[in-house]
Amino acid sequence: MESTRSRLIKLLSENKMSYISGQALSEQLGISRNAIWKHMKDLESDGYHIDAKRSQGYRIVSFPDKVSSNTIRWGLETKWMGHHIIHKEATPSTQIIGHEAARDNAPDGTIIIAEEQTAGRGRMKKNWFSDKEGLWATLLLRPPIPPNKASELTLLTAVALRKALHQLTGLPIGIKWPNDLLIGDKKLCGILTEMQGEQDRINYVLIGIGLNVNQVEASWDASIRDIATSLKRESGNSWDKIKIVQTILKHFENTYEMYLNYGFKAIKSEWEEHAFKIDENIKIKTFHEEWTGRFLGITDEGALIVESAEGSPVTLYSAEITWFDR
Ligand code: BTN
Repeated sequence: MESTRSRLIKLLSENKMSYISGQALSEQLGISRNAIWKHMKDLESDGYHIDAKRSQGYRIVSFPDKVSSNTIRWGLETKWMGHHIIHKEATPSTQIIGHEAARDNAPDGTIIIAEEQTAGRGRMKKNWFSDKEGLWATLLLRPPIPPNKASELTLLTAVALRKALHQLTGLPIGIKWPNDLLIGDKKLCGILTEMQGEQDRINYVLIGIGLNVNQVEASWDASIRDIATSLKRESGNSWDKIKIVQTILKHFENTYEMYLNYGFKAIKSEWEEHAFKIDENIKIKTFHEEWTGRFLGITDEGALIVESAEGSPVTLYSAEITWFDR
């Protein structure tokens, strides 16, 4: 159940420009005016800047810069994406919380976000390093698409993330099929899509986003220092995670709605425009073989198309690709 404090902040956030009287707040929250006044004092001591006018009431002027459900909500410009927020200081994995939330009927567009993960997970059952400097989030979606299209969501997420991060930072971020964002040949962000459904319908999809934000070289141990990068490492600046989440949610909502209305082909050209190595040779590793071919692009469903040594196009639905030695 939502606390009175959160409901109070929500009410004030919804009325950013205008004052709400103590009387109105007390009626809506079912607590005394004296209790409202005490909550305001608490908020101020937690870093909220509250403007109180005797004749008009209260207004939040600014939030503390720490990530919380309330600070994400304040200034969020989406229609529905991220309107339900679950925020944790630390958790084993936001994917685990996502599965629990989905089973508890959390709404489409819920975001689960953690400051730190103690058992973050990546693709292929790999561990995912998740210290306090990164952005670790899971989006819960209930898409009206058949299960065989779920992988398209990974690709559209990459497009939305790249756009959001490029808009904020101007950094030259590229997409590596199917689920990574890179700068140069270093990994900035990974996407993990998990689905729960039946043969012909999806119950829900969880899109895990692991974004390195303010890590510096010393944040990582030697095994990942040379293959990972962060927004800070590339730009020299620290980045505000609240603004990043809000921008990601906005771009995700736009891209996802475009996808639902027009299908993956509406996103494909943007994906290809920012993908690494199109028209160049890449190494392809599948379950049972490794070979080199020319990366031609992706199909209208997001599958990889590679030209084999014999010159014929091969379509791959699942593979690892590389072009660097590691
Ligand atoms: C990859 O292997 O590239 C995907 C990494 C995905 C990591 C994110 S962090 C938030 C969410 N919670 C997890 O445990 N994993 C995903």
